[in-house]
Amino acid sequence: MQITQAILPVAGLGTRFLPWTKAVPKELLPIGNQPIIAHLVDECIDAGITDICFVISKGKEMIPQYFFENPALEEELEKRGKKHLLEDLQRYKEVDFHTVYQDEQHGDGHAILQAADWVKSDTVAILFGDDLFTSDDSGLTQLIKAYDLIGEEVAMLALENIPKENTSRYGIVDVEHEHDGEPRLKKLKGLVEKPQPEDAPSTLGIVGRYLIPQSTFDVLPKVGASGGGEIRLIDALIEQMPDLPVYGYECKGTRLDTGTPEGYQDAVKAWKN
Ligand code: UTP
Repeated sequence: MQITQAILPVAGLGTRFLPWTKAVPKELLPIGNQPIIAHLVDECIDAGITDICFVISKGKEMIPQYFFENPALEEELEKRGKKHLLEDLQRYKEVDFHTVYQDEQHGDGHAILQAADWVKSDTVAILFGDDLFTSDDSGLTQLIKAYDLIGEEVAMLALENIPKENTSRYGIVDVEHEHDGEPRLKKLKGLVEKPQPEDAPSTLGIVGRYLIPQSTFDVLPKVGASGGGEIRLIDALIEQMPDLPVYGYECKGTRLDTGTPEGYQDAVKAWKN
């Protein structure tokens, strides 16, 4: 099935990058020759996404603005014969960008919920900006290929095999079985948010890419209490597990975590344009 819509929740306060994030969203920090958010949008375009919704908070308008058309600038570049710069700007013309606001930061699931009315397709991709993948196929493309192997409505989560001592930083999956012929693809029977290593059902951690069905948007408003007041996507998927097949795909390549200053510095060094 062709997946054409993606939500990019980027409304977080970015406290780990203060005081930088008082003035500039962390998603606009550069990696290689463009900001982190542009790598995410490229990942969407490469995977066939044509409709992108940013979930932002007040003060982060620069994120969608990066992708908007700028006719006056384009005219000037045309006049000056700067064709390559013009082409670079125009590659976003194929995509419909939409923006919604999350007025208060009540969690990743709450951010996604702000885009509920915009979702028109049966399945939508979610990309969290802190995670980038270095691999021939992007994280999202790998998930979509795995999704196509199943051939029915499921939720699909990107997984990474992480060191056991780090389980308390991730959502960790409990595997029911591997898919015949594709051992990276796992049918899941449980999800545990940030367990201590001794309680973790595996060392497979959920990383920033998801494919979720429309039905998840009906469940999200009901899961607030269990998340300590926050609405978390993982809690909605746990709630749905009895009725919805949930799969994970252990992505190939290296995942770069740009969400901390140290991780960001490592990502800058590791990224190859
Ligand atoms: P984080 O937990 O990394 O939060 O969110 P953050 O605000 O970005 O950064 P710190 O922890 O304060 O340094 C993971 C992703 O979920 C989005 C963030 O923008 C980020 O892409 N998010 C999180 C929201 O959009 N809204 C929320 O309420 C929470």
